[in-house]
Amino acid sequence: MRDPRHLLSIADLDRAGVERILETARALDGVPPENRPAKLPTLAGRLVITLFYESSTRTSSGFELAARRLSADTMAIRSAGSSVDKGESLKDTVLTLAAYEPAAIVVRHPQVGAARLAAAYGGATVVNAGDGAHQHPTQALLDLYTIQTTFGQTVFGRFEGLHVAIVGDVLHSRVARSLVQALGLVGARVTLVGPPALVPRGLESPGCERSTEISAIEPADIVYVLRMQKERMLAGANYVPSLREYTARWGITPERLRPGQKVMHPGPINRGVELDARVADSSDSLVVEQVRSGLVVRMAVLHDLLAQGVPAGEIAAVA
Ligand code: NCD
Repeated sequence: MRDPRHLLSIADLDRAGVERILETARALDGVPPENRPAKLPTLAGRLVITLFYESSTRTSSGFELAARRLSADTMAIRSAGSSVDKGESLKDTVLTLAAYEPAAIVVRHPQVGAARLAAAYGGATVVNAGDGAHQHPTQALLDLYTIQTTFGQTVFGRFEGLHVAIVGDVLHSRVARSLVQALGLVGARVTLVGPPALVPRGLESPGCERSTEISAIEPADIVYVLRMQKERMLAGANYVPSLREYTARWGITPERLRPGQKVMHPGPINRGVELDARVADSSDSLVVEQVRSGLVVRMAVLHDLLAQGVPAGEIAAVA
């Protein structure tokens, strides 16, 4: 089901595809600020639409800025305030937007499979910016890029043997699903950690373990923390006895970390619940770096899908 026109899932990429995107991002990132033009001409005259049916700060701003830095025209549609409020379906919304002949539509939607549907309706390239608890491929790519930046740039060798513990509400997390796949592709080791009801068994793949004990984070190089995604939890279901108990047993505090252990979080953080504020603000937190990576990685993804003829090296040369 791999269609090179779209990025709907990490499964749309093989290891070479992941490497290509990370290399393009690195080329974009490598230009010193003083030599950097305000914009690269790559997507001049083309339109990138961001269509968001769910709240977003980092992903929507990252895509919009990425498209603008590549000289695309951008148009941001949020479900609130659009005709979605009046009952318009995803299909009609996508068909309407397709009339403007966008080069790409970036879609976030609460339903699993929404981005794939959007790809089937319109003629544009579709990038999945999150569909329910299913996939969020650009988050996984920016996380790999952040890891690369932090642990050294000679990279793929380095991913092998790297150990990432993903802690928290894995069950409802599209970030975890994408990241487990992406880390698997590049050969890293993953341990999923959290309350039994929130760490599903099905996610385990070769090289991926599962534990309900917080002590399982100890050997990890990186502790990747997830929010309790209440908006996807079934009403009345008790996944954890209480939030206080969750924090007491699985919350990430300085005391639970080894010195130098790096901490990541896709945001938004609920300080004091899954992540202690002292950890969020410490020098071992890569959270701000993840946001920074989001810009160049989304530029690289748009470049990869819409302008693959231009080799990564030339992007830097243009700059
Ligand atoms: C995540 C998302 O929306 O899937 N956030 C993000 O994109 N940075 C994670 C979350 O909402 O907890």
